[in-house]
Amino acid sequence: MFAKDLIDLSSFSLGELESILERAAFYREETGRRTFRVLEGHNITVSFWEHSTRTRLSFELAIKELGGRVVGYYPETASEQKGETMEDTVKTLISLGSSAVVFRHSLPGLFHRLAQKVEVPFISAGEGCYQHPTQTLLDIFTMRQAGFDLQGLKVLMVGDILHSRVARSHMCALPLFGVEVAFAAPPPLLPDGMVPPGATCYRNLEEALPWADVVYLLRVQKERQEQGLVPSLGEYAALFGLNLAGLSRVKSGTCFMHPGPINPGVEISHEALRALENVAPERVLFRKQVKNGLYVRMAVLDLLVGSG
Ligand code: CP
Repeated sequence: MFAKDLIDLSSFSLGELESILERAAFYREETGRRTFRVLEGHNITVSFWEHSTRTRLSFELAIKELGGRVVGYYPETASEQKGETMEDTVKTLISLGSSAVVFRHSLPGLFHRLAQKVEVPFISAGEGCYQHPTQTLLDIFTMRQAGFDLQGLKVLMVGDILHSRVARSHMCALPLFGVEVAFAAPPPLLPDGMVPPGATCYRNLEEALPWADVVYLLRVQKERQEQGLVPSLGEYAALFGLNLAGLSRVKSGTCFMHPGPINPGVEISHEALRALENVAPERVLFRKQVKNGLYVRMAVLDLLVGSG
């Protein structure tokens, strides 16, 4: 029923994405109440070539919750350091009995090439600036959990769109659900040519905020900034960070999301975060996003690797 791999959300239909979300809802309901054996007898390789906390841990936990075994592949101590190619590495993992590969890497375009070389599912855990499919799925799941109807929902993506695999996955998936997406970013972080047709791009955050039902703050990716795109984090925070003045401009029910990890005081000021957490904690969805990552990744592993 499903594509073999989860690399690019544009290769999934709305029905397929809904099936993943439906299965995730099942796991949110049942995890902790019963034992699952969907991945019993399966070894799943988890290989992260970039840093991660949430994605890696939730994939590993999801594999364990489903009764599978995690095979950790650690690039820094592997034969890749002796010159083995990435293709040979992945084939070696399959020879050792992996039923699927969960991969994070900085190089866009790598995953399609590797996935073609192996017969088992290849699951992206974030590919350079290209896509981060499970992040988008867990975000959509979290928006619904917050009570939003996706049809006509207005999601404002703020900040470092240029380097964001999360934003690119959202651009593929959100319109399928009828979500309206707009952007707020300085030109170096969202060049005009990158704005999807029909989408609004604000160059001033304060002007954009009253429009949004969901304000999605993107991490400024310091590790991917070419020289000079953002003069300083302080300047970015002053112009595109959410602060108390910005909060006073949002609608009363607007919710706030961030994929994590947060740069403290940059994407949202300490004062604005404290004010939200004191006055309207239900509108800050950051922790719910993390928790839902487990259920969505369980659903993906179940549908692509397990029973289907
Ligand atoms: N959102 C996200 O991918 O977080 P990690 O880098 O911690 O996995």
